[in-house]
Formats: sequence, C-alpha cells, structure tokens
Amino acid sequence: MDGKIDVLLYGVGAIGSFYAFILNRVPSVRLTLVARSNYEAVKANGITLNSDIHGKHTFRPFKVVNNPTDVAGHYDYIVCVNKAINQDAVAKSLTPVVSDTTTIVLIQNGVGNEDPFRAQFPNCSILSCVTWVGATQTSPGIVTHIKSENTEIGLFPNSLLSPTLEATRLSDFTALLKAGNTKFVVEPNVQIRRWEKVVWNVAWNAITSLTQIDTQTWLHSSPDAIPLTKALMEEVIEVARKSGVPMRDGLVDELFTKILALPGVYTSMQKDVVARNPLEIDVILGVPVRKARELGVKIPVLEVIYTLVAAVDYGVREGKLFP
Ligand SMILES: *[C@@H]1O[C@H](CO)[C@@H](O)[C@H](O)[C@H]1NC(C)=O
Repeated sequence: MDGKIDVLLYGVGAIGSFYAFILNRVPSVRLTLVARSNYEAVKANGITLNSDIHGKHTFRPFKVVNNPTDVAGHYDYIVCVNKAINQDAVAKSLTPVVSDTTTIVLIQNGVGNEDPFRAQFPNCSILSCVTWVGATQTSPGIVTHIKSENTEIGLFPNSLLSPTLEATRLSDFTALLKAGNTKFVVEPNVQIRRWEKVVWNVAWNAITSLTQIDTQTWLHSSPDAIPLTKALMEEVIEVARKSGVPMRDGLVDELFTKILALPGVYTSMQKDVVARNPLEIDVILGVPVRKARELGVKIPVLEVIYTLVAAVDYGVREGKLFP
C-alpha cells in the first residue's frame, strides 16, 4: 500500500509498446509488462520508442515477465494490447492477476472482444478501446510511431456493478492517459466505434490478405472492385444495426473518401499472411458472420470473403501456403 497504481500490460508489440510508454511516464503508475515473442529483447534492453510526436525514448518498466503467473497478485488495471487471437485462453491465463476490483482494459481490433473476459471475470469492469495509433515494431523491442494517435474509450457496461462505480473507473483510467499525454475521446457507446473500424478492417484486411495487392491497386483492378467492396461494407453495417448498434448513414461513402485519399496501403492482416502469423480473423470477420447467422441477416459477400480468409488462416497455421 504505497499509493502506486499497479498496471499490468499484456502484449508488447508495436501498439502495446506505445501504451507502455504512455503509462510508464505517469509517476503514480507502477507498470509490469507481459511480453510474449519479444520477451528476451524487452527484458534485456527495455523498449525503445521512436515517435514523431513524443520523441525518442528508451525505458524500462518496473518488471517484465513472460507469463502472468510470474507476477500473481493484485492489479488495478490489466491492459490487453495483445493481438486478438485465442482470447479465451488469454482470459483464462490472466486469472492469477485479476481480482474483483481489477479493471480490464481492451485495446484491440475487432468486435466481441469483451465476451471472453466478461465470461471469465463477471465481477470486473471492462473498458473497451479503439486505437488509431500508427506504429510498427522494426525489431524486437524497437518501435517506430508515425503521426497518427488517438484512443476511443468507453465502458462495456457490467449490470452487476453500479454505474457510478463504473464511471469512476473509466475516469480514473482516462486520467492516466491524460497524465501520459496521449489523445483520447470518451465514447458514450464505444461499440459504434468498434464496428466502424471493423467495417473498414473487414474490407481492407480481408481484401489485401486475399489478393496481396495494396488498396489503390485493388480499387483500380476492375470495374467490379468498388461495388463489391461497398456491398461488403454495407453487409457488415447491417449486421451491426441488427445487433443493436446504431451505425450512421453515409458511413460507406465516408470510408471510401478516406481510402481514396490514402496511397495504396497494406494491412496488419496482410502482413501477418506474409510473415506466416495466425490472422485476427475471428474478431474481425468471424464475430460479424456468427451474428449475421444468429440474426438472419443476409451476408452473401461476407460469407465468401470469410470462408476464403479462413482458408488462408488455416493454410498459415498448417504451413500449407504456397511459398
Ligand atoms: C462475483 O462476486 C460474487 C459476489 O461477491 C461472488 O459470490 C462470486 O464468487 C464472484 N465471482 C467470481 C467469478 O469471482
């Protein structure tokens, strides 16, 4: 009881390293990192962040471990910035570090990410975040952060807890983001933001992964490319609406204005295919497909795209992709 706020951050990839930097520079925070694939490098050398906005820093948090069981105890916040695969197993593995007064913060792509954590820890508050931080890990523990920076954050409300308590937990955490000097927006319904990003990711992650061409090349590839992409996005928006998430009109046009203004880009999923890493297919495509099936929403384009991406993911995991 020394008045420190104990934060455990799980997953120290590019985005995880960025948030580790933000939280580590808050004097009241005592930061523990769970590093997976880059554990040896982060343990030995700390993290180096080269940021266009925040400058160049090398820092060492309070502790770096490879497994939550190595640091069992009470944490005020568990911040999950890991790649969203095997979420059930990740939630279970956090049991030694979660108590009823722990708040779980999810900073991940996708939708439905909260469900395994709510099932495993029904008494905890969950803060759900959409990040717009642009960062890449150039070698283990070394991360470059380009200009983009924003966190959209809101509650994943827990009916067992009082709204006042939950609001306090949200504002206590955003106070840390503020003290760490990073931009954020508190969202009254963060599911809208999660689904908006999924509409974008379903299209661009899947298409760049399947075709291995960048977005601009795709858009110019045939007269059918744009209408097909728009149909795909509209299907995801319909699934969100039928799931009770009030998506705004005109979103597809907005997203098209945005993609047309960008140079041809690849996506995290396309990079995972190239690196032969498992894909974040479930939270980006699988959950919308399952919801559509439950709710009887017709998703002819999404069904095909999902099944093809599932085959690529299977090929990666089984080592069957053409070399
Ligand atoms: C949640 O809290 C209730 C009431 O305090 C308790 O009975 C229950 O065991 C807790 N559940 C878990 C999974 O910790």
